[in-house]
Amino acid sequence: MGGITVLRLGHRIKRDQRISSHVALTARALGADEVVFSGEYDPGLIASVAKVVERWGGGFKVSYTPEWRRFLEERRSQGEYVVHLTMYGVGIQDVEEELRRAYAERGLVLVVGSSKVPIEVYELADVNVAVTNQPHSEVAALAVALDRIHQGRELTKTYPDARNIIQPSRLGKLRKAKKKEEIN
Ligand SMILES: C[S@@+](CC[C@H](N)C(=O)[O-])C[C@H]1O[C@@H](n2cnc3c(N)ncnc32)[C@H](O)[C@@H]1O
Repeated sequence: MGGITVLRLGHRIKRDQRISSHVALTARALGADEVVFSGEYDPGLIASVAKVVERWGGGFKVSYTPEWRRFLEERRSQGEYVVHLTMYGVGIQDVEEELRRAYAERGLVLVVGSSKVPIEVYELADVNVAVTNQPHSEVAALAVALDRIHQGRELTKTYPDARNIIQPSRLGKLRKAKKKEEIN
C-alpha cells in the first residue's frame, strides 16, 4: 500500500460531523493519501469529502471500516507502520526521523481518536506519538505530525486535476474555476 493513511476512530454522526470532516480535509491538504473512518457509518460525511476531492483535485481516498482492529492488523501485516497520535505518547520531536524513514520504506497509518480510545490501540500501534503531552485536538495533532513528516514540502503541493484553483493574493479573494476541457 505505502503512502500515508489516516484512520479516524470512533466517529459519532451527531457529535463529530464537523471535526471528522476537518480530520479528512486536513489529511488531504497536508499530504496524506487516504482517510478511513471508523465508528458510526456516515455516508453523508464520505460524500462530502469526496465532493471536495472532485472540486479541488488529487487522488485522495475516503472510505469506512466497521472493524478498526482488523483494519490495523491487516495494514501491519502488509508492512505499514502504525502511529497512534495521543498525548500519552513519546514526543514527535524525538521520533520524527523514525516516522520519515518508516514513511519512505513502509508507509504509515496515522491513528486519531475522538472520545475515549480503547487500550488495544495503544498496544497495536508500533509507536504512540504525542504532539506535546497536553490535551488538544485530533486536527491539530494530525497537522503537526504531517508537517513534521513532510518537512514543509506539503505546503506547496498542487493538483493538476483541480477544478478550483486559488490565486494567492495578499488582499482579497481570487479563485479560478477551470472548465472540464482545461483539466488534465
Ligand atoms: C479530543 S482528544 C480525546 C482523547 C480521549 N479523551 C482519550 O483519552 O483517549 C481526540 C484525539 O485527539 C488526539 N490528540 C489530542 N491531544 C493530543 C496530543 N497532545 N498529541 C497527539 N494527539 C492528540 C488524539 O488522537 C485523541 O484521540
